[in-house]
Amino acid sequence: MAEQSLIIFDTTLRDGEQSPGASMTREEKLRVARQLEKMRVDVIEAGFAAASAGDFEAIRAIAENIRESTVCSLARASEQDIERAGEAVRPAERRRIHTFIATSPIHMEKKLRMAPEEVIAQAVKAIGWARRYTDDVEFSAEDAGRSDLDFLCRVFEAAIKAGATTINVPDTVGYNLPDQFSRTLRALIERVSGAERVVWSVHCHNDLGLAVANSLAAVLAGARQVECTINGLGERAGNAALEEVVMTVRTRADIFPVTTWIDTTQIVPASRLVSQITGYPVQPNKAIVGANAFAHESGIHQDGVLKHRETYEIMRAEDVGWKENKLVLGKHSGRNAFRSRLAEIGVVLESEDALNAAFARFKELADKKHEIFDEDLQALVSNEAVPARETYRLNYSRVTSETGETPRARVILGVEGEEKTAEAEGSGPVDAAFKAIERVAQSGAKLLLYSVNAITTGTDAQGEVTVRLAAENRIVNGQGADTDIVVASAKAYLNALNKLRAPDGKVNPQGVL
Ligand code: KIV
Ligand code: ZN
Repeated sequence: MAEQSLIIFDTTLRDGEQSPGASMTREEKLRVARQLEKMRVDVIEAGFAAASAGDFEAIRAIAENIRESTVCSLARASEQDIERAGEAVRPAERRRIHTFIATSPIHMEKKLRMAPEEVIAQAVKAIGWARRYTDDVEFSAEDAGRSDLDFLCRVFEAAIKAGATTINVPDTVGYNLPDQFSRTLRALIERVSGAERVVWSVHCHNDLGLAVANSLAAVLAGARQVECTINGLGERAGNAALEEVVMTVRTRADIFPVTTWIDTTQIVPASRLVSQITGYPVQPNKAIVGANAFAHESGIHQDGVLKHRETYEIMRAEDVGWKENKLVLGKHSGRNAFRSRLAEIGVVLESEDALNAAFARFKELADKKHEIFDEDLQALVSNEAVPARETYRLNYSRVTSETGETPRARVILGVEGEEKTAEAEGSGPVDAAFKAIERVAQSGAKLLLYSVNAITTGTDAQGEVTVRLAAENRIVNGQGADTDIVVASAKAYLNALNKLRAPDGKVNPQGVL
C-alpha cells in the first residue's frame, strides 16, 4: 500500500480558543504557534480575523513569524470577513483562507434564513473573493454531518469549480457515528466531480466522545486532512485531539495508509503549554498526554513491563515527549543562560524590557526555589503575559491561618496607580484573600472554577492556579503561579479580573453572515 501524507491542520488557536474562557493574548498565541511549528504541524489555523482587532493582530503576528507551517485564517462567506482574513495572513510565506457557510436544513432555514440555491451562490462568491489573496483556499460546509448528501455534492462541486483546493466536511455538532461518517466521505469522494483535484478534510466535534473515531474512520475512507486541536480543546466538548489522531495513525501503521510529518516528541510540551496558557487542565487518564497515560499501577502490569516493555505498552513514553523533570537553571544562572533556555523551549520575549522583567522574576523565584525546571520557566513567562490594560496588581498580602481560628487576609492592591487596602475573613486562607480582593474590586463576578496544580514535584514546587470568573456575559480564565499557593491564587484572581476589564468585542465565527 503506497503511503500518502495526512495533513495535520491544527485549530487550537481558533476552534480551541472558542472554549469558554480559553481566550489567549497575542503573545500567548504566538508562543503556541511557535510550538506548533516546532512540532511540524502542516497548517496552523491562527484565528478568525474578523472576530476582533485583537484576533486580527494575533494572526498577523503569527503570519510574520511562522515560516514552516501554512498560516490560515477562518472567514465567514462574506466579502468583509474574507478581506480581513486576506490582510491578516498576507505576510505569511504560505497562507490559506478558510471560508465556510452552513449547509444543513436547520442552519440554512433557522440561522442563515437563506434558500439552498442562495447558499451555493454565496459559497461560490466567497471562494472567488478568497482567491484574490491566495491560491490555497479551503471551503467548509458547516454542519455537513447533518446535511443532505445530494445537496452537499452540489455545494462541493460548485466550490471546486470556483477554485477551492481543500474541501472540509465538518461534523459541527458531533452527531455522526464512525461508520456513518466514513460512508459519507466515501460517497462524496466518489460522486463529486473534480473530487480528485482537491484534498478532502474532516473537522469533528466531540459531543458524543467520537471526534477522534470519526476523524480516523474518515481517513480510512479517503480524507487526507484532519482538523484537530491540542488536548482536544474546542467549542463545547471540543475537537478531535491532535495527539490521539497522530499517534493512532503512527501506532497502527498496519491499518492506516498514511503518515504525518509531526515530530511526536513535541506533543507533551505542546500539551503542557496549551494547558498552562488556557487554564484547561489535562485529565490524568487522558490518552497520550495525561499524567497516568504511561503509569503502570498494578503489580502484574509493572512486572510485565519490567520483563518486556511491550507486554503492556503500545507506544514509548519518550516518543511523545515524556521525560524526567530536568533541572535546567539555578540561582547562579546568568541572563544569557536564561535567554537561551527560553529560546530552546520556544519563548522569544519581544523586547529587552520584557526579558529584564522576566529575568528579575526568575531571580526572585530562584531565591525561593533552588532548582528551576522548564515548567517553572513556562509559568514564569505566562505570568509576564498580563493583559494590555492591567487594572489590578497585587502589591502585598498577609494571610493568617491557624488551627481553631478564622483565617484572615489583608491585601494591598495597586489600582490604576493608586494603592487600596482591604481585609476580610474567610472559610479558608484562599477564600479570605478572594473576599479581601473583592472588597476593593467589587466586580460581582461569579467564581466558576478554582483549581491548583503543582507545576513540578516536591513541596517547594510552584503552585499554578486557575480561576474562572463570569460577569456580564463573559467568561475568563486567570492564571497565577507562585511557591506560595495563596499568593498564586490571589494573582490568578486578579489576572481574571484584569481580563474581564479588558475590552473584548469578539464576534463568534458561527454567528450569522
Ligand atoms: O465546527 C465547525 O463547523 C467549524 C467550521 C467553521 C469549520 O468550526
Ligand atoms: Zn468546529
